[in-house]
Amino acid sequence: MAIKKIGVLTSGGDAPGMNAAVRAVVRTALNRGLQVVGIYGGYDGLITGDIREMNLRSVANIINRGGTILGSARSPEFRTEEGMQKAIKQCLSHEIDGLVVIGGDGSFRGAQDMTRRGFPCIGIPGTIDNDISCCEHTIGYDTALNTCMELCDKLRDTMQSHGRCSVVEVMGRHAGYIALNVGIAIGATSILLPEIAFDFQKDVIDRMEEAKSTGKNDFIVVVAEGVGHAEEMAKQIQEITGIETRATILGHVQRGGTPTLFDRVLASRMGARAVELLIEGKSNRVVAEQVGRIVDFDIEQALSMKKTLDMDLYRMALEISM
Ligand code: F6P
Repeated sequence: MAIKKIGVLTSGGDAPGMNAAVRAVVRTALNRGLQVVGIYGGYDGLITGDIREMNLRSVANIINRGGTILGSARSPEFRTEEGMQKAIKQCLSHEIDGLVVIGGDGSFRGAQDMTRRGFPCIGIPGTIDNDISCCEHTIGYDTALNTCMELCDKLRDTMQSHGRCSVVEVMGRHAGYIALNVGIAIGATSILLPEIAFDFQKDVIDRMEEAKSTGKNDFIVVVAEGVGHAEEMAKQIQEITGIETRATILGHVQRGGTPTLFDRVLASRMGARAVELLIEGKSNRVVAEQVGRIVDFDIEQALSMKKTLDMDLYRMALEISM
């Protein structure tokens, strides 16, 4: 059956660049003769029927905006059979033939469940965490990295003035991609990641003492949120080294802001490809980026893949930050 009308929604934690992806989905679909509806509030909007017709101008002036014009949510109701049935009923009553879901792995599980019940879905990876295994860069990751870098540079200024240490906690859920790359970009003395076991004395204190012995006067320790305990670590560092130490948890500021050029282009390419896949009659696929190319994977396969941290990058970071 040829597809006539598609829906697009954003789900889970928002990420800068989601709007660019929505724009690409809407414009590609309309320009290929399809009708498009926006579903507001993630899967919750699908359950309640918050579904609105989109035209070319509905997505004007959003490519540069962070957040998502469609709103987002993590929907516990959608994970129930009853919620799922309500969502499918809404799709049928709005004559939606296929769905594009922009979000993280939780959102893809929802898309997979819909597909299993006979409803075609395509996933687009939108999350600052970059924790989608089949995809080298997820939408929002590059912007979040740059935001963290800028904020850490500001911290560095004041740490230098006072000869202090700053323990900075960055987001990433269970993944350390943000922490590792930000750590490199700002020259952190230590980078603590959930993927790599660490010894506080050896990997934090000894490195600080060693750097201090060569004349270093200010320090930044980057901690991934999956490791946590930034406040506690700051206290310990101060107690053991005598260096005044402050903790900063960057928090949700990392999720907002103007998307970078990289995220805008990536999101545009992924959005356009997602629509093409639906037109080609494909379903249960995740659009991804690998070595600069846009590719796609079966959702099940994508969810079962394991993403590993680049250990060479980690080793290099340690070597050059002393
Ligand atoms: O997945 C994106 C993310 O920002 C994670 O880095 C973080 O752990 C989580 O979402 C925070 O979730 P919430 O916005 O619900 O507090």
